[in-house]
Amino acid sequence: MPHSLSLWSFTFFLLFFTFFFLPIPTLQTTLISPVSKDKSTNLFTLSVYLKIPLHPTKLFLDLAFLFPWTLCDANYNSSSFRYVDCDRTFCFYLGFGGASCTNCTEAGLSDPNCIPENPICGAYPENLVVRDYDFDATLIDTLALPSADVSTKTHLISLPNYTFSCAHSSLLKGLPKDVTGLVSLSRYNLSLPNQISSALSVPNTFAVCFPGSFKSTGVAFFGSTGPYYALFENSKIDLSKSLIYTPLIVNPDGIGDTVISYSDDPPSYEYFVNLTSVRINGQNVPINVSLLNIDHENFLGIGGTKFSSNTPYSLLERSIYKAFTKLFIKEASLSRFNLTRTSPVKPFSVCYAARLVKVTSIGPDVPTVDLELGGKKGVVWRIVGANSIVRVKNKKNNLDLWCLGFVDNGVNKKTSIVIGAKQLEENLMQFDIESNKLGFTSLLTSHSLKCSNFNVTDFA
Ligand SMILES: *[C@@H]1O[C@H](CO)[C@@H](O)[C@H](O)[C@H]1NC(C)=O
Ligand SMILES: *[C@@H]1O[C@H](CO)[C@@H](O)[C@H](O)[C@H]1NC(C)=O
Ligand SMILES: *[C@@H]1O[C@H](CO)[C@@H](O)[C@H](O)[C@H]1NC(C)=O
Ligand SMILES: *[C@@H]1O[C@H](CO)[C@@H](O)[C@H](O)[C@H]1NC(C)=O
Ligand SMILES: *[C@@H]1O[C@H](CO)[C@@H](O)[C@H](O)[C@H]1NC(C)=O
Ligand SMILES: *[C@@H]1O[C@H](CO)[C@@H](O)[C@H](O)[C@H]1NC(C)=O
Ligand SMILES: *[C@@H]1O[C@H](CO)[C@@H](O)[C@H](O)[C@H]1NC(C)=O
Ligand SMILES: *[C@@H]1O[C@H](CO)[C@@H](O)[C@H](O)[C@H]1NC(C)=O
Repeated sequence: MPHSLSLWSFTFFLLFFTFFFLPIPTLQTTLISPVSKDKSTNLFTLSVYLKIPLHPTKLFLDLAFLFPWTLCDANYNSSSFRYVDCDRTFCFYLGFGGASCTNCTEAGLSDPNCIPENPICGAYPENLVVRDYDFDATLIDTLALPSADVSTKTHLISLPNYTFSCAHSSLLKGLPKDVTGLVSLSRYNLSLPNQISSALSVPNTFAVCFPGSFKSTGVAFFGSTGPYYALFENSKIDLSKSLIYTPLIVNPDGIGDTVISYSDDPPSYEYFVNLTSVRINGQNVPINVSLLNIDHENFLGIGGTKFSSNTPYSLLERSIYKAFTKLFIKEASLSRFNLTRTSPVKPFSVCYAARLVKVTSIGPDVPTVDLELGGKKGVVWRIVGANSIVRVKNKKNNLDLWCLGFVDNGVNKKTSIVIGAKQLEENLMQFDIESNKLGFTSLLTSHSLKCSNFNVTDFA
């Protein structure tokens, strides 16, 4: 029978190719990178190896900007870099949104082979912290990261075609002193997770644990949905098993919070979640629901909730802020906490004298804040004292306070709630760009763990 024969041949064909030609699919490739918190700016950095010979490099970690950029100047020393030939369509296709052409003079490398007559791709890198931008050449060079496989801890996996924009040193203003560029972890197709995914044919996903202190080191995992091993009492535990999931929402309007506005109307490359309600000590904060949804009606993408690791404390739209602080003050005054406010210190408006606040292993004992998120009913991101309250100390005027670490963002801001660094720290978060879902553990300290339990040493 020809039919079954062809089926058999097809099966044979499949088996043959599965066994002899495909790479072993069970082999996991997880890349691992140290994440540190900068003491003077409170911004986060990620360490990688760049160039040939491999050079340990600290980059500013940004969840929002489109593509990565690195300082290029006469000291840029690598035997492996290449320019990207310019053809506007190609540069655009590559992912450099507002692509224009330039030449290798702009990159400013001490490159004897630079031929200024050859047009190469240019790009507009941005620094969203000080809201500045630049124009420079684009480059391809080698990036390498350690493999998370413990048995080969020193084994590096390299991306020979890591594509990024150059930038001049002026774009580093406001960033941690020791960084020489920015690494983008956005949804955009030139972000590091996307480039790792396409170069190594691994899942387009990453997980990050932002350390709460500049004295300890956190971690980022790329290319796999787990396992993510942490050390706990002499044994390895896989924290990918402890993640709770909620959908990641794509804001359909506006590329994000970029300095340059792009004329076409792409979806945002930032990470949004569907926050549906907020509870303090179990009580519902009255919030106008239309602020929590993203309004697509006028193609402005107003409203909703996103993450920003560059924002030190969560920002709340004014009416949400008022309702939130009002309820917090009320709940904190209950006899269980017995807290009476004292004069606040900017940018905060709710502060308590430190001597009144009991501190536990999960931070100051204050009312819990629960963020109820979309997805299966009961997906709750619990924020306890360690993530909600900030110590404000000043020896000179004998000031010692604990303040509620949420800030009034005024009215008419595009996004109603921006969840900032203080609330993201010591929490393992997995951004699965492929399946559009976010996994999180909430405060690891509640599991007697910290980001430093991933035992990663910063090499840069
Ligand atoms: C660049 O690196 C090479 C090889 O490591 C070295 O010989 C050379 O001196 C370096 N050049 C500069 C300008 O640092
Ligand atoms: C990268 O993104 C741009 C802009 O959205 C798109 O036009 C292009 O096709 C993408 N490139 C790749 C390689 O996916
Ligand atoms: C190369 O770029 C530089 C700086 O952007 C510019 O001044 C110069 O005219 C360009 N040279 C050519 C040949 O296009
Ligand atoms: C890197 O790019 C070069 C030139 O486009 C290509 O030949 C090579 O296959 C690429 N390597 C990888 C690992 O993607
Ligand atoms: C967010 O959740 C609300 C309430 O469950 C729902 O009506 C809305 O469709 C969700 N939005 C998105 C973008 O999933
Ligand atoms: C809720 O917010 C929307 C959008 O800001 C506004 O148009 C509406 O009037 C508000 N509703 C109430 C009851 O405040
Ligand atoms: C509550 O705190 C006040 C001081 O702020 C103290 O005088 C009072 O005894 C406390 N009450 C309880 C029940 O602990
Ligand atoms: C943690 O990392 C350090 C430095 O790499 C290493 O010496 C130590 O053995 C690690 N701890 C465990 C329990 O593996």
